[in-house]
Amino acid sequence: MPGMVDTHIHASQYSYAGTALDLPLLQWLNTYTFPVEACYKDLEFARNVYTHVVKRTLRNGTTTACYFATIHTDASLLLGQIANDFGQRALVGKVCMDTNNFVPHYRETPDESHDETNRFISEMLKKKYPLVMPVVTPRFALSCSAALLGHLGEIAKNNHLHIQSHISETKEEVKLVKELFPDYDSYTDVYHKHNLLTDKTVMAHGCHLTDEELKLFREKGASVAHCPNSNISLCSGMLDARRVLNHKVKLGLGTDVAGGYSPSMLDAVRRTLDTSKALTIQDPQYQTLTFEEVFRLATLGGSQALSLDEHTGSFQAGKDFDALRVNTAIVLFFLLLCSPFPFLLSGDDRNIAEVYVAGKRVVPFVETT
Ligand code: GUN
Ligand code: ZN
Repeated sequence: MPGMVDTHIHASQYSYAGTALDLPLLQWLNTYTFPVEACYKDLEFARNVYTHVVKRTLRNGTTTACYFATIHTDASLLLGQIANDFGQRALVGKVCMDTNNFVPHYRETPDESHDETNRFISEMLKKKYPLVMPVVTPRFALSCSAALLGHLGEIAKNNHLHIQSHISETKEEVKLVKELFPDYDSYTDVYHKHNLLTDKTVMAHGCHLTDEELKLFREKGASVAHCPNSNISLCSGMLDARRVLNHKVKLGLGTDVAGGYSPSMLDAVRRTLDTSKALTIQDPQYQTLTFEEVFRLATLGGSQALSLDEHTGSFQAGKDFDALRVNTAIVLFFLLLCSPFPFLLSGDDRNIAEVYVAGKRVVPFVETT
């Protein structure tokens, strides 16, 4: 089957995945996330976690990952190097944030963030990695001043770069953004007015976006990363994926480690189906997502959401060969009837015999050291 595309994962949060999911988003960020992310100043700590997360996601069939790192430029560059060394296709973002009242040692000034983002991008592009690219990464509107959002929009525009951030994950966040940016039409408009809503933008969550906001997404060609494990684990909301698709907004799936506790895209597939079924329980008229639709979201949909579908996402002639060889011995009977679906629901990394990215076998790993 085609390789899977994780459109939203925090490589830096892998160190505490599966722990600490007892607080709502904003408290969770202040209490657990920011103190951990501050540790990535230490490059050896970063190297250890980043090596583990790249290997773990590759082994679980993620051939393309769109990563958040931390505010630290050198550690973010290291993540790019590690993804390249292991042969994963990746977008890597140095996180930008100049507002943090709870962990003040984990923030930048707008000028630092601007200069370090420029350094990150130029260093990353200098490496000429074939499959790893930088992505402009304002954390979210609550962590960024208007000045910083403006800087980052300019940088993305001048260099035609990808952009990633978070949007409308919880109702509390939406309310605070309204208070902080009273002169804007909506949360989406805050990003739009700073040139951060483009056809190379992927915004995580979007649980509480209005129809007007989804129209703006569609108009600009921006996409949504659906992260159902995180949305349920942090009690943030339930994205109505059908509504996003009906608006013809590009949609991919994300694990959102560590708001989501699983780094596997197989889990994202299952939670997407569960969330859609939960919405059906609430409203029997609801048009539940089908298996085929969710399979597509995990592969081609994800590559479209990241504007990488020219190169990856399916076996169409002319694209790179990003693929999983799934060992189906234990599901052979069902396989005769349908195809990857039993694997998607009840398989795991033990069923993934080989992973290929751009025609090169990257799993099993070839140990180089
Ligand atoms: N919003 C801003 N930062 C984060 C983060 O690290 N995780 C999640 N789930 N939402 C965010
Ligand atoms: Zn996230």
